[in-house]
Amino acid sequence: MTATGRVFATPAGVRLGPVDAIMAGKARNYVLQMRSGRFHGFIVRRGDAVFGYVDRCPHAGVPLAQVLDDYLTPGGDHIACSWHGALFDIEDGLCVGGPCLGQRLTAWPVVVDAGEIVTAVPPEPPIA
Ligand code: FES
Repeated sequence: MTATGRVFATPAGVRLGPVDAIMAGKARNYVLQMRSGRFHGFIVRRGDAVFGYVDRCPHAGVPLAQVLDDYLTPGGDHIACSWHGALFDIEDGLCVGGPCLGQRLTAWPVVVDAGEIVTAVPPEPPIA
């Protein structure tokens, strides 16, 4: 039986398909149904680099895009929350404008392996 709740992380090693499914400079939504619940994330592609995030604005906890795959500003320079306009750096998810200034999107670690996007192990938290 599969849980219907929301989860905010995935195991490492899940193959998500070809990196070419995301046009350079664009983003794409991914939904993974797992036994523990459903994960919603998105990935931004910049050249050969990919940046993944959990699809949840730190301000109000809602998914960022109101239109499928529409996660970026028109110029493609930032991730944008479509509800109240928060702007986030693509490389590290830091909010640089809007109601959650200084907060971050939750990273969803992904890498490209042989032309395919694969989920990765989250980095260890720094030792205090
Ligand atoms: S819900 Fe994202 S900026 Fe308000």
